[in-house]
Amino acid sequence: MAETAKPLTMDTIVSLCRRRGFVFPSSEIYGGIGSTYDYGHYGVLTKNNIRSLWFGAMVQERDDIVALDSAIILNPRVWEASGHVAGFTDPLVDCRTCKLRFRADQLELASCGRKPSKHPGETPDCDLTEPRQFNLMFETHVGALQDESSLAYLRPETAQGIFVNFKNVAQLARRKPPFGIAQVGKSFRNEITPGNFLFRLREFEQMEMEFFVPPGEADEWHAYWIEARRQWYLDLGLREVNLRVREHDANERSHYSLATSDLEYLYPIGWQELEGVANRGEYDLTQHTRESGTKLEWIDPDGTRYTPYVIEPAVSIDRIMLAFLCDAYDEEVVGDRKRVVLRLHPRVAPVKAAILPLIPRDEGMATRARALYEELRPHHQVEHDESGQIGRRYRRQDEIGTPWAFTVDEQTLEDETVTVRDRDSLAQERLPLSGVREWLDDALVQEWRSPRSP
Ligand code: GAP
Repeated sequence: MAETAKPLTMDTIVSLCRRRGFVFPSSEIYGGIGSTYDYGHYGVLTKNNIRSLWFGAMVQERDDIVALDSAIILNPRVWEASGHVAGFTDPLVDCRTCKLRFRADQLELASCGRKPSKHPGETPDCDLTEPRQFNLMFETHVGALQDESSLAYLRPETAQGIFVNFKNVAQLARRKPPFGIAQVGKSFRNEITPGNFLFRLREFEQMEMEFFVPPGEADEWHAYWIEARRQWYLDLGLREVNLRVREHDANERSHYSLATSDLEYLYPIGWQELEGVANRGEYDLTQHTRESGTKLEWIDPDGTRYTPYVIEPAVSIDRIMLAFLCDAYDEEVVGDRKRVVLRLHPRVAPVKAAILPLIPRDEGMATRARALYEELRPHHQVEHDESGQIGRRYRRQDEIGTPWAFTVDEQTLEDETVTVRDRDSLAQERLPLSGVREWLDDALVQEWRSPRSP
């Protein structure tokens, strides 16, 4: 097998996602809508896996975190108190020459609308305006009237829904700090630097956890969550060389943050934030206490009162999905043919196994393959494929990252065994047909590392 090493581009990932039905541009038949995508079958399956792996690690396998699902449209006063109405802005510049609009703090990532500048502002040809602040929240109206009094916002982060429920949860969940509240759901931002596929979307699915701690323990828990989240990615097979922790300088921290570290991934566009882990201090609970008049504090059994500090790991499924896809994408030459393969962790992969009759028109093979499929499908996401040459069927499964294929062939008819083909090594071994279910159950709980890890 020869490696065909060339730098991965975002276009390659976009094209694979399109070709194999992971992701489509949204409302494409009307020309699309910027930075908005729809997930197809394999995209949905992969997202579901990422969500449930996150939920497993953050809620199911812990005693100190509970779940919440708050509304998308909250009372607009929430966003005044949180600081988003006044401060959730990006600095914008317009170019009077090419008539395009750019983020003033990310000119080096933008493409100029005209040559010879590559990036806006590089030559005197670019006539940029002074930066002005642009609020990223999507506005809407609640009720029949469309005036100031009915103005509301689509949430730009799920976190505020958690803070405003602090009292409800703290009273009912029988937890005391340190404890956390986790939430997964759509967030919306009117991003003004479109492009870069799933990296920066206007509508994305966030997974956030607010961990409420005694103030004196905040630094310790912040360090704990940075490492716990880093390890989660490594356990799911992300290559360590492509993941790093970067601490924010004081001047780049959000208005609420006492300290933030990003887990950065080496996307095709360079090192970028995959997940942020912030120490939000007492900012949010204090703000909501002041603005709502409801005391959001903790009272210890001995009567000691304090406002907990908040440690927040926050990420979107979309950015994780993009990182996993980039990390997994591989091309190699097998025989004289190029093979594209997604080396995804088996627990992340959308389909766990393919069941393939070698000769679909052979009654004995077709019946056994179908029976195996029916046996496995209540337990795992598996696919039965009987269309086309076996080589083409393998290649299709490689491209969607299916870790194993069970093939029913002539020998199956003689001794009731099947071959299992490994996506990464291409090794094949034989298994009794009756043992496939147990073999697959077991394979899916094994540790997995990318064969491309050093
Ligand atoms: N509650 C804190 C918060 O929202 P953030 O750094 O703005 O902090 C947290 O966002 C995470 O949400 C990011 O690390 C990223 O994974 C994801 N995210 C933010 N904006 C996004 C966008 N426009 N498209 C996709 N994911 C986004």
